[in-house]
Amino acid sequence: MTNDVEIYKNSLRELLRDPRVRKMKEYAQHKTSNSLKHSIHVAMASFDLAESLHIKINEEVLAVGALLHDYYLYDIQESGFSDYKHGTKHPKTALDNAIKDFQVNRKEQNIIRSHMWPLTLFHIPRSKEAWIVSVADKYCAFKEVFGKRRNK
Ligand SMILES: [Fe+2]
Ligand SMILES: [Fe+2]
Repeated sequence: MTNDVEIYKNSLRELLRDPRVRKMKEYAQHKTSNSLKHSIHVAMASFDLAESLHIKINEEVLAVGALLHDYYLYDIQESGFSDYKHGTKHPKTALDNAIKDFQVNRKEQNIIRSHMWPLTLFHIPRSKEAWIVSVADKYCAFKEVFGKRRNK
């Protein structure tokens, strides 16, 4: 293994114990998912991607960035935003919320802010971890939208 899965899972577990993180469960996402389920999915896919490409990552940074990348905490339907508007706006909202509620460092902040790149033109992933989350997010969203529905 290239990275330490125990450090990674412990960082995820710690975040998942927080009721503010678990609140993401209330917000539907990609029709078949919710923000919490999607974020866990992205976190697992991010670690798997790093492992399969033998990319050494900072486990804690990747865990925080992946799990909080969609910490925008609003209902897309009720927001009245178009898909495009939500797509361009939610990384900033997620980042503002993450800064308010958690001690996110600059690297973690960039992961959250740039995960929709290239939609967010000027917010480019600036680390291996940010690139991984951006790719894993697109992969998971694609699976959630087009994949077979599974009861998991
Ligand atoms: Fe997102
Ligand atoms: Fe996402």
